[in-house]
Amino acid sequence: KETKEQLIIDAGQKHFGATMCKSCGMIYTASSPEDQLQHVQHHYRFLEGIKYTGWKKERVVAEFWDGKIVLVLPHDPSYAIRKVEDVQELVDNELGFHRVVPRCPNKTKTFLFISDEKRVVGCLIAEPIKQAFRVLSEPTGPESPSSKECHRAWQCSNVPEPAVCGISRIWVFRLKRRKRIARRLVDTLRNCFMFGCFLKIDEIAFSDPTPDGKLFATKYCNT
Ligand code: ACO
Ligand code: ZN
Repeated sequence: KETKEQLIIDAGQKHFGATMCKSCGMIYTASSPEDQLQHVQHHYRFLEGIKYTGWKKERVVAEFWDGKIVLVLPHDPSYAIRKVEDVQELVDNELGFHRVVPRCPNKTKTFLFISDEKRVVGCLIAEPIKQAFRVLSEPTGPESPSSKECHRAWQCSNVPEPAVCGISRIWVFRLKRRKRIARRLVDTLRNCFMFGCFLKIDEIAFSDPTPDGKLFATKYCNT
C-alpha cells in the first residue's frame, strides 16, 4: 500500500500539475489524456494561425528592435484579410467572445504586431465611434462585491462623452505579455487612426474591457 502511495506522489511531481506549453502558451494537465489531446489540437491550429510569412504589399507603420506593426485595412488583398480573420478567431476564442460583426466593417483598422520570429503576437482592432461612456471607478469599502464576482459588470456613466476611436479588441500572445506590446499598439493606433493628428487619450475608448484589459487601460490612460 505504501509503495502505491509513493508512486502516486512521484507521478504527481512529474505529471500531475498544470504545465504551460512553451510554444503555444496553453495550460494543461499532462497526466490527462483528454487534456493532452486538446493541447495537440490547439497547438498546431494556434501556431498556424499566428504564423506570418510576410506579404509583398505590407503596410509597416512602426518598427522596433523586437518586431514591427503592420496595419491591415478592409480593402487589402484577401491573404491579409484572411490572416486578420484567423487571428481574430483565436482572440475571440480566448476571450470567450462570440463573433461580433463590426459596426462599420469598411472602416475597421487592424494593427498586427509581428515578432522577429515571424509570428503575430499582438492584435488591435479599432473602429471609428462618436461617443463613449466612461467606466466609473469601482466602489470601495466592505460592501462592494469582490472583483471576481463582477467580472465584466463595470459600472458605466450614462452620460455620453465624445470620442473618436473605439478599440474593440486588444490582445497579446500569452507568452509575450508585459513587454509593452499592447502599449506600442495603442501608441501606433493613436498616430495612424486619423491622418495628420495624434489622438488624445480621451478620444479613444476601450469597449467592454476584460479584467486584463481594464488593468492595461487604466495604466495606459494614466501615464
Ligand atoms: N495586470 C496588471 N497590470 C497590467 C496587466 C495585468 N495583467 N497588463 C498590463 N498591465 C499594465 C502594466 O502596468 C504594464 O506596464 P508594466 O509591465 O511596465 O508594469 C502596462 O499596463 C503596459 O502593459 P503592456 O506590456 O503594454 O501590456 P501587454 O502587452 O501585456 O498586453 C493585454 C495587455 C492586451 C491586456 C494582455 O494582457 C492580453 O492580451 N490579455 C488577454 C486578452 C484581453 O483580455 N484583452 C483585453 C480585452 S478588452 C478589449 O479588447 C477592448
Ligand atoms: Zn502547445
